[in-house]
Order: sequence, then C-alpha cells, then structure tokens
Amino acid sequence: MSAEVIYGKQLAEDLRQEMKEEVSALHTKDIRPKLVVVILGEDPASMSYVKGKQRASEKIGMDSDLIELPVETSERELLDLIEKLNQDPTVHGILVQLPVPDHISDQKIIEAIHPEKDVDGFHPANVGKMMTGQDTFFPCTPYGILVMLKRADITLEGKHVVIIGRSNLVGKPVGQLLLNENATVTHCHSRTKNLQSHTKQADILIVAAGKPSLISAEDIKEGAVVIDVGVNRVDGKLTGDVDFESAKEVASHITPVPKGVGPMTITMLLHNTIKAAKRIHN
Ligand code: GUN
Repeated sequence: MSAEVIYGKQLAEDLRQEMKEEVSALHTKDIRPKLVVVILGEDPASMSYVKGKQRASEKIGMDSDLIELPVETSERELLDLIEKLNQDPTVHGILVQLPVPDHISDQKIIEAIHPEKDVDGFHPANVGKMMTGQDTFFPCTPYGILVMLKRADITLEGKHVVIIGRSNLVGKPVGQLLLNENATVTHCHSRTKNLQSHTKQADILIVAAGKPSLISAEDIKEGAVVIDVGVNRVDGKLTGDVDFESAKEVASHITPVPKGVGPMTITMLLHNTIKAAKRIHN
C-alpha cells in the first residue's frame, strides 16, 4: 500500500484564493487588513521566512510592512516600536520574527504585542484562551495542521495522536488543538524512553523534532496518518523528520517536505490577520 500524500501546498493555494476574495470584499467596506512583520538582524533563513510572509500578504491584496532593524537594536527600542504599532489603528497584525537576538527576551516581546494583534497566537492571553477551548488566534503551524487534517476528512474524535516535540510554537499547541477536537493526545520529547513504543500506538503521528530521518516505516503503525513538521537542510536539500520513502509504504496518509505543512503556516497567518481586521472593525 502506498499512502495518500497530503499536499499542504495545494490546499494553501486554494485557501489563499478564497482569502484574496475576502480581502477584496473588505476593501469595499474600507477595511484594509494589514500585517506588520519585524525582523532584527540578517539571518538568511529568518529573512527568507519573512520575505515569504510579505510576498504572500501582497499576493492576496493585503497591506503589509516589513520593518528591518539592526541586530544591535535594544530591547527598549523594540518594545517602543511594538507599542507604537499597538496604538496604530491601521495595523491589525504584528509579528516579530523569532528568535530575537540574545540580549532581548522572546517572552517580553511576545507579551508586549497586544493580544488582539497577536496573529502568531503566542501571547499568554491567547494561549490561555486556546487551552480553555475559546476562540482566539491559534498558532499558525498547529492551526495549519488542524485544517489539513480536517480538509483531508480525517476523523479526530477518539483518535490516538502522538506528538514528538514539545515546543511552544508547535508541539504543545498542536496537542491542545487536537485535544479540543476530542483526540487522545500523547506528547513525546527528547527525554521520552522507548520512543518507538509510543509512535507505534499512534493513529495520527505528528513529528516536530527537528531531526532528519528520526521516524521511518518501522516506527509507524500500519494505516496511520503521518504529519511531518520537520524543516532540515541535509546536503543543501530541504528534508523533514520522517523518512518519506519508507513511511509512505506503511501510512494511510502522509505529508511531504517540502510542499506539506510549510505552506499552511503562512496561510494561517494571513487568515489570522484577516480575522484581526474583521474583529477590530466589528
Ligand atoms: N520563527 C519561526 N517560526 C515563527 C513563527 O511562526 N512566528 C514567529 N514570530 N517567528 C517564527
């Protein structure tokens, strides 16, 4: 058996087409959704991510600004900029690309962004709302995974989801979102003993460990759904955390890298920004 491949890229394109129409309809009501992305320093990978975010915004007709600051910008200067953006009524979404340089506290920056403009869904107020099952901005990668699973008609209720990775960006929130959908969730991480004994139990296996080829066919239950969130460069080539070629012979559904989860992340950022604009103007 060879698994059905779930292409996030195609779904992302379909959703962005719908969003383009929505943005255009909002413009006729004088609502202009706007995202501001802030980046410190010139790390090539981070720069490529933020350029992608800006390009995607522009493609759906959404206003976007990219603010590039020198790496030596002080925490105070960054907090002052965030406060200015919080107060600016034309700005609906604020995203500070992480990680920020070591002399600045990630958490302080996350908490400075007004929760109503926190399109990353990282502010503790939004994380708390997600934990208590309320509507809010959900973190973009976990939310993208949820939308992919739903669009692929994969039942979540009662399913055993095993997640490898416990980051605040992906592992923890994706577990929470799927728990909210009545899945049974197991979190595994670097200190988990006998990882395979857990992964073999998974109806849905989500791998967000950042380790190339961590998971292959022998770690997967026959017919499981495998979601690969890994973004690794091996010999210059983009690759996930799952050995795709062997895993696809065992899984029922699998996401590739690239063209899998990645394109959904930016799509959900656009979704959150439109949502922010609609909320503020309602
Ligand atoms: N760095 C890597 N992924 C992300 C993300 O989703 N949001 C922000 N702000 N920074 C990131």
